[in-house]
Amino acid sequence: MIGIRGGAPRRARLVGFGSYVPETVVTNQDLERLVDTSDEWIVTRTGIRERRWVSSEQATSDLAIGAAKDVLARTGVAVTDVDVLILPTCTPDHVFPSVAALTAHGIGATRAAAFDIQAACSGFIYGVAQGTAMIEAGLADTVLVVGAEVLSRFVDMEDRTTCVLFGDGAAGALLTAGDPDRYTGFLGFELGADGSRAADLQIPVGGSRLPASGDFAPDQAFVKMNGREVFKFATRIMEESVIRLLERLDISIDEVDLLVAHQANQRIIDHAVKRLGIAEERVFNNLERYGNTSAASIPLALSEAVDAGRLSAGDLVLLVGFGAGLTWASCLVRYEPE
Ligand code: ACO
Repeated sequence: MIGIRGGAPRRARLVGFGSYVPETVVTNQDLERLVDTSDEWIVTRTGIRERRWVSSEQATSDLAIGAAKDVLARTGVAVTDVDVLILPTCTPDHVFPSVAALTAHGIGATRAAAFDIQAACSGFIYGVAQGTAMIEAGLADTVLVVGAEVLSRFVDMEDRTTCVLFGDGAAGALLTAGDPDRYTGFLGFELGADGSRAADLQIPVGGSRLPASGDFAPDQAFVKMNGREVFKFATRIMEESVIRLLERLDISIDEVDLLVAHQANQRIIDHAVKRLGIAEERVFNNLERYGNTSAASIPLALSEAVDAGRLSAGDLVLLVGFGAGLTWASCLVRYEPE
C-alpha cells in the first residue's frame, strides 16, 4: 500500500465479519478420556462444552486464510482492494515471517501491507484500533483485521487446568472509510497493558529469552497460567475498562445494544455483565462451542451474532477483552454495514 496522510476528514466504518474454524470438534467427554477431568467440572467452572482443534497439517495461517476469504465473500469486497491486513495472534506459525504475510499471500492480497499484532486475547480490539487509526489518518481505505489462533499446539495435555480451556479458530472484520456525516463508526477505545503481570500467563519457550534450541523442561513450551490471578484480573479490568470508556464518551450502558466480551470463561463474563448492569439479552456468547480462541474469540462471536440476527444496522456494540501481557481492551462502535 501507499498511504499519504491527509485528505477530507472521515470515519472508519465496521462493514462486516467472517470466520473459519477447523472441522474437528473436541467435546468435554473426549477430554475426559485424555485427562483427569469431567464434563460437569468444565461446564460449571467455565461454561465450555466443546472446542475445535486443527488437523496435524494445519497451522494458524491456514485458519486465517479461511477467515479472511469468508470476510471478503460476505462483504463483497475484492481482495485487491485490501490496503492493510492486520493479524492479531499469539500462536503464530513461526517467530517470523508473520502470519499476516503468509495470509496475504494465501488470499492474493498483493497490494496489502501485512503485519501481526501480539496482544494475546486483547489482540482483536488492538488490531481494530490500529486499522481505525490508519483509515482515519488517510493512510488506508480498506483494512482487514483477522484474529487467528492454534492454541491446541501450546496446551499441556498433562495440565488439566489449562488444556480444557482453549480452542482453535479464526475470525475477522472488514473496516472501510465511511462518510463522516453518515457514519459514526468507532466511537472510542480503551487499551492497556501491565507487564508486571507477565508471569501470570505465558508460554516461556520459543522466544529470545528461552529459545527453542536451548535446554528447558518440556512443560515450559506450553501455556503456563496462574488461573486464579488471571480470573481476578479479568473480572476487575473488564468492568474498569468499560466504565472508563463509557464515562469518557458520556454514554450510558443502557444505550448499548450488544455486548461481546472475550470468550474465556462464562463466570468471568457473567461477573462483568452483573457489575456493569447490562441486561443479559443484550449479551452474546458462544464460548460453549469454541472455548477460548484468544484473538479470534470476539470476531467469532460477532460473526455468529450477525448470523443469529442479534446485530442490526445502527446498533451500538461494546467489545471488551483481556489477555496475556497482561493486556486489556474495550471498544464502542456503531455497526453500519451498508
Ligand atoms: N477438571 C477437574 N478439576 C480441575 C480441573 C479440571 N479441568 N482444573 C482444575 N481442577 C481442580 C483443581 O485441581 C482444584 O482442585 P483442588 O481444590 O483439589 O486443588 C479445583 O479444581 C479448583 O481449582 P481452581 O484453580 O481454584 O478452579 P477455579 O474455579 O479457579 O477455575 C479456571 C480454574 C477455570 C482456570 C479459572 O481460574 C479461570 O478461568 N481463570 C482465568 C483463565 C483465563 O480466562 N485465561 C484467559 C487466558 S487469555 C489469553 O491471553 C490466552
